[in-house]
Amino acid sequence: MELLLAHVLKMARMKLYLNFDRVLKEPELENLRALVMRRAEREPLQHIVGSTSFCGFEFQVNRNVLIPRPETELLAERAWKFLEGRESATALDFGTGSGCLAITIALKSPTATVHAVDVSEAALAVARENSLRLGAGERVVFHSGDGFSAVPGDLKFDVLVSNPPYIASAEIPTLEPEVRDFDPMLALDGGADGLDFYRRLAREAGRG
Ligand SMILES: C[S@@+](CC[C@H](N)C(=O)[O-])C[C@H]1O[C@@H](n2cnc3c(N)ncnc32)[C@H](O)[C@@H]1O
Repeated sequence: MELLLAHVLKMARMKLYLNFDRVLKEPELENLRALVMRRAEREPLQHIVGSTSFCGFEFQVNRNVLIPRPETELLAERAWKFLEGRESATALDFGTGSGCLAITIALKSPTATVHAVDVSEAALAVARENSLRLGAGERVVFHSGDGFSAVPGDLKFDVLVSNPPYIASAEIPTLEPEVRDFDPMLALDGGADGLDFYRRLAREAGRG
């Protein structure tokens, strides 16, 4: 509720407390009611406000990308720590979605180049926009297409990160509505046992 109110009033959440006695104007109240209704219909908060924080950076999100999850921050951290001290390293993010992993690794590893691949053009549009806005510049290179076939064959990587789709197809109908109805199916469905992408990674990552 506080986050929705802060969004309506266009102020940081902490500032709500500095304006504790402020009475909402009727249009603000209307706006807030509409957002509360959307949330009551199980639309994720991050979609309503249009962004989420990941490793301290603000990423824009919409229905074309998975909402970055807090546990994925651990993967980003493992990768940038691994790259510490390596000059001009190269990383690959397989299934970049919003770009949260690729862009964070690039921002935390100032001499690294991060390649990011996704099969969804709509997701890549969000990732490119995030990269531009967060100032990752040309150190994040986006590739559109199906897995490793989209990545130039002559590239070698110091580290590969991926948060691939890993939900077993039959489990998808049982997920919470916030996930099932709002995260893209392409980001969730990992095949019959959920492990399709892990098998692909194991098979294709060592090519060349
Ligand atoms: C679980 S989401 C992860 C997004 C982001 N890395 C994150 O952690 O928030 C998986 C991503 O893989 C992409 N994807 C699915 N199939 C793919 C494929 N065959 N090749 C490349 N990307 C794929 C989806 O479009 C989706 O953006």
